[in-house]
Amino acid sequence: MAAVCRSVKDLVAIITGGASGLGLATAERLVRQGASAVLLDMPNSDGEAQAKKLGKSCVFTPADVTSEKDVQAALTLAKEKFGRVDVAVNCAGVAVAIKTYNSKKSQAHTLEDFQRVLNVNLIGTFNVIRLVAGEMGQNEPDQGGQRGVIINTASVAAFEGQVGQAAYSASKGGIVGMTLPIARDLAPMGIRVMTIAPGRHIPSLPHLGLGGIHGQLRRESIRPLSSSSLLAPGLGSTTGRTQVGGTRQTGKQGRASDSGCLV
Ligand SMILES: NC(=O)c1ccc[n+]([C@@H]2O[C@H](COP(=O)([O-])OP(=O)(O)OC[C@H]3O[C@@H](n4cnc5c(N)ncnc54)[C@H](O)[C@@H]3O)[C@@H](O)[C@H]2O)c1
Repeated sequence: MAAVCRSVKDLVAIITGGASGLGLATAERLVRQGASAVLLDMPNSDGEAQAKKLGKSCVFTPADVTSEKDVQAALTLAKEKFGRVDVAVNCAGVAVAIKTYNSKKSQAHTLEDFQRVLNVNLIGTFNVIRLVAGEMGQNEPDQGGQRGVIINTASVAAFEGQVGQAAYSASKGGIVGMTLPIARDLAPMGIRVMTIAPGRHIPSLPHLGLGGIHGQLRRESIRPLSSSSLLAPGLGSTTGRTQVGGTRQTGKQGRASDSGCLV
């Protein structure tokens, strides 16, 4: 099948978790290549300052991905400021590293911790997808009948979770599991859906020391998580699955390439 390659120039992207790490790096790349970016992140995040650094093509919207009201307000702001939403990149995420049962402390994993991770990573991602789909559905379709693209972030932990990653792996496995049915749901609207599953990349480290998700995992970890322990044999840094016009594609997809194409 011929690759679909479209320039990201002039596209409007909303990026959750856009104040830090992978989300911020995505926004920086998109803005550099001529797109507009809406950074959606927690009110106490660095989003305002980061958006200012990126200039006029970028705006910060404080929002919690688990809140319908917040996400709807973010989408309204995106439309007011840039006219539409073409791309949604779901990067917001949290992590804990807690054993299912800690026999040394005679302590079970709390349900509260498990639910919190599921709530942000899985339910928050779904919340954004379902609401952004309504906005993208209003876009004029391009020549190929496409109205937008949604890119979710899972993790290699969806397939090869380590000790202490029950909650994180369950949340990321959930994202992987829902990708295909959502892609099937939204294909008739001309909205493509894909999920990437990165290995450890530590984007926050240079700026934040032990910041971000990686820092959280490191601080709470029962044993240090090395790159090799996080990467399953045979798994690349990016796997994706998408449904385009009824044709299923599986493979390395869903990256904004160096040449500014969205594939
Ligand atoms: N860092 C890695 O090695 C790695 C590996 C595989 C997958 N991932 C995934 O990539 C994504 C980004 O990770 P990162 O390392 O850049 O993390 P990060 O901690 O640097 O960024 C995550 C961002 O999400 C935001 N966030 C958290 N809860 C939120 C909520 N309820 N609403 C809105 N925003 C919220 C945080 O404020 C933060 O800015 C995550 O989904 C993570 O699970 C990361």
